[in-house]
Amino acid sequence: MSPEIVQKLLQAGKVAAQVRREGAAKLRIPGASALEVMDFCEKRIQQLGGQIAWAQMALNETAAHFCPDDEDKTVMKEGDVVKIDIGVHLDGYIADNAMTIEVGKANKHHDLIKAAQNALTAAIKLVEPGRQLWELGEAQYSEAEKMGFTTVKNLCGHTIGRYKVHDGISIPSYNNKDKTEIEEGWQIAIEPFVTNGRGLIKEKPPSTIFMLETERGVRSPHARKILEEVKPLQGLPFTTRWLTRKLGKGAVAFGLRELQQNGSVHAYPPLVEVANGLVSQFEHSMIVGKKTTVYTRHADDEW
Ligand code: CO
Repeated sequence: MSPEIVQKLLQAGKVAAQVRREGAAKLRIPGASALEVMDFCEKRIQQLGGQIAWAQMALNETAAHFCPDDEDKTVMKEGDVVKIDIGVHLDGYIADNAMTIEVGKANKHHDLIKAAQNALTAAIKLVEPGRQLWELGEAQYSEAEKMGFTTVKNLCGHTIGRYKVHDGISIPSYNNKDKTEIEEGWQIAIEPFVTNGRGLIKEKPPSTIFMLETERGVRSPHARKILEEVKPLQGLPFTTRWLTRKLGKGAVAFGLRELQQNGSVHAYPPLVEVANGLVSQFEHSMIVGKKTTVYTRHADDEW
């Protein structure tokens, strides 16, 4: 990895960590609006010199992949377990990080949150060239179990590439027997999800998050306009309100349906724990070297 690329990753990571912390602080306040905080996060990424990859959040039994649309009325309630997942890039070089907070001051879910922090910390300690992926999974699972929880088995960390959120290799959160060895130069995100439920998630449509996969011929002008908007993202995700604000709600619904049907666009609906367990998550991005560089750590992060 060239020094220029490393520099971009470090810079993207700094912005991602800062916005994650600022967004989390806002979400902690009862009555905070999901829509307002996500809009704030996007604006803040740009103010700090980053490019928006995504700003997502998820409440309680939802593990990931929620983005409010413009009609969304969700507000934070005392005791809600809230995940915030912020992606920032510079020139396609991505920093991916997430954290969990509990809304208000009751501190009812301290252990659930702490278990995911510990799982992430334990896995990061093991990252080095030659380490097998199952070992990272085992470490995460064991931290969750120690505190009476389990990890979500069908959610994984991942390698990251240029403009690629998921670059092909999954980092398990339990011992899945994957003997793949970590290599120097890999860019990875580790993101344990911990739950008091069964440890599995399922998709719960409808989706407000999409990604352009392969561009196929389209018929409607609505679909064509959406393609024009999302092509410059080069495969990074987009959320519906970015489009509806420019093209209108009806046009976006119509156009997205066509793009999904012809296989151009893939939907990423909210992921909900199958037993409606509460879910916590922490995530850092890192570069694997002789020494691991975690590039999304904020000075106030204790993990
Ligand atoms: Co990630």
